[in-house]
Amino acid sequence: MDAILRDVPERIETERLILASPRVGDGELVCEAALESLEELRPWMPWVAPPPTRESSEESVRRAVAAFIERRDLRYHLWSKEDGRFVGGTGLHRIDWDVPRFEIGYWIRSSLARRGLVTEAVRALAQAAFEQLGAARVEIRCDTRNERSGRVAERAGFEMEACLRSEARAPDGALRDTLIFARVRRD
Ligand SMILES: CC(C)(COP(=O)(O)OP(=O)(O)OC[C@H]1O[C@@H](n2cnc3c(N)ncnc32)[C@H](O)[C@@H]1OP(=O)(O)O)[C@@H](O)C(=O)NCCC(=O)NCCS
Repeated sequence: MDAILRDVPERIETERLILASPRVGDGELVCEAALESLEELRPWMPWVAPPPTRESSEESVRRAVAAFIERRDLRYHLWSKEDGRFVGGTGLHRIDWDVPRFEIGYWIRSSLARRGLVTEAVRALAQAAFEQLGAARVEIRCDTRNERSGRVAERAGFEMEACLRSEARAPDGALRDTLIFARVRRD
């Protein structure tokens, strides 16, 4: 089956969040949240160097809308149910529909961090991947030094499988070791 024919959820609801597929026009709020969070994002996320602008964020959103429609990459924006604020981003990336396998990524605006919102989103997204998309495997990959990210993976029930040494370059150009966490369907 061509990936574009796959049915995927456009909206996932949790206790405190709505995970929604990206929409044209989201760029301004994404940009504002990223600019407030540069200190926390810079060591791990290459897309904040140089810092995003409203235009570059909207361009990225529109590319994400197109990729979502084609089922090449499924980005979700997190919105607070309490006040409608843009909270951060997550998504199912590096998709292999033949397995099917996905990799979950995430970031949160600094002013809403440390409340368990990311773990809540990751749990719901993994559940949707297994129950609605038929996932056999869902991965989370992170720099070994990114302890906050590793704790999200563990809280969401992912098991550490491997450490790949010198697997990638960190945003500062240094070689990084990468931890692979995974959940599989037979779990
Ligand atoms: C990684 C990142 C997303 C983690 O965000 P976070 O806010 O710490 O994660 P959560 O929303 O799951 O919150 C968990 C923290 O809130 C605390 N918390 C407070 N209230 C909570 C609640 N009701 N439920 C669960 N946890 C709660 C937890 O104790 C935990 O703190 P700890 O990690 O110090 O033990 C964030 O640091 C970030 O955006 N980093 C930059 C981008 C990045 O590195 N992304 C990952 C790339 S692999």
